[in-house]
Amino acid sequence: MKFQAPKGTRDYYPAEMAWRRYLEAAWRRVSLRNGFEEVEGPIFEDIELYKVKSGDEIVSQVFHVTRQDGESTFGLRPEFTPTLARMVAAKANALPKPIKWFCMPNLCRGERPQRGRLREFLQWNIDLLGLDSPAVDAEVIFTCVDLLRELGLTPEHVKVKVSHRETVRTILAKLGVPGDRMIDAFNLLDRQAKMEAEAYTKAWVELGLDSHKVERFDQMCRRTYRVGDVAHLERSIGGEAIADLEALDKQLSAFGIAEWCEYDLGIVRGLAYYTGTVFEVHEISGAERAIAGGGRYDKLIELMGGPAMPAVGFGMGDVVLSLVLGDKGLLPESVTDPVDAFVFAAEESARPMVSGLVAELRSAGLHARMTYKTTTNVGKLLKEAAQQDARFAVIVEGDSQDNGKVSVKDLASGDQSRVSLDDLPERLR
Ligand code: HAM
Repeated sequence: MKFQAPKGTRDYYPAEMAWRRYLEAAWRRVSLRNGFEEVEGPIFEDIELYKVKSGDEIVSQVFHVTRQDGESTFGLRPEFTPTLARMVAAKANALPKPIKWFCMPNLCRGERPQRGRLREFLQWNIDLLGLDSPAVDAEVIFTCVDLLRELGLTPEHVKVKVSHRETVRTILAKLGVPGDRMIDAFNLLDRQAKMEAEAYTKAWVELGLDSHKVERFDQMCRRTYRVGDVAHLERSIGGEAIADLEALDKQLSAFGIAEWCEYDLGIVRGLAYYTGTVFEVHEISGAERAIAGGGRYDKLIELMGGPAMPAVGFGMGDVVLSLVLGDKGLLPESVTDPVDAFVFAAEESARPMVSGLVAELRSAGLHARMTYKTTTNVGKLLKEAAQQDARFAVIVEGDSQDNGKVSVKDLASGDQSRVSLDDLPERLR
């Protein structure tokens, strides 16, 4: 029998795993320097957890996990936010505030696999709970930008598209969308890219907006506005609707990330729990799906049985991020752990020394490898050292046992010298 990996999943061979660990190291580094602490939760949850407030689309994508006896149905996590909200609700009073958490779970969604979309992916989550202010929203967006910058991206490559559900709600209400259809209107906006133009317009009519009003909405919202220039927004949209964005605007500038961000009121996000500021990171040409998405979800902790607690956060997947880095030529040359020393014997009589020497170097914390070949041909063995990207070749010679010295060749410069065994770890360091 021959098996294949399930559709939309990935096998991590060493090269893929090295890339994954590289990305995770960047996510962790940036999280920690922005003051977030790492958490983790179960990979499956009571299926009802995902029905609380995430919305129909993601619920329809949950893989069900059923025990063989058919009892107790769980769902494989399609996102981390419901788990986080459950964890916070359970210990809300005991946890020091504000709560600043990060995690890097693997998530599963039963989507149609395509470019940028898989059925299992990694997602970096940043969440800040217990504070409600534009400064906090801006700090979370800054953390996202900090990561993008860490990987070599610039505002010429990607943009954070910022919006606010209350602003969009005010505009839609003025145009005539009834309050109880607002969530449908948000879903429609979120799905526009996936819909035929005709079906899209028809759906608006059902929500009470004729084509003239849809056009009016598009004029106001389907365009971008510069951060630092709220006057422009105010002229187009009106002062009352943009009060929230005005406050955020100052904070984005204060964090020094104005040039990374722009307002795009066409962004409302697909998940049902968002309440205020929402944002997505997109590659600048708009060709790819979102690199990251998030926003404020001030009601979710209460809905999970906890106290009222404001919250804001985002998730960044590994799939689109890796595609964009590749397309922009920003993949680092090497992401593997550098080999400090490649050890081999230049003569038959020196061979017994090799394993002991490698063991000593490894015990001293160095990444030491040795040849598994039987040859003592130095040319061939140096080639093998180079193939493994070793920094140094350590050559054990016939007289090494007696004089306690080996030859060390710096494979970058080509310099070679004899080094005493006592000094070897220091020299390689
Ligand atoms: P989301 O927009 O569903 O938000 O996902 C965030 C990011 O995860 C997306 O922008 C994308 O990079 C990645 N992603 C989502 N689905 C897939 C997929 N099928 N394949 C590859 N990548 C994918 C959330 O999940 C929210 N829970 C984020 C959040 C955290 N909001 C507040 N805190």
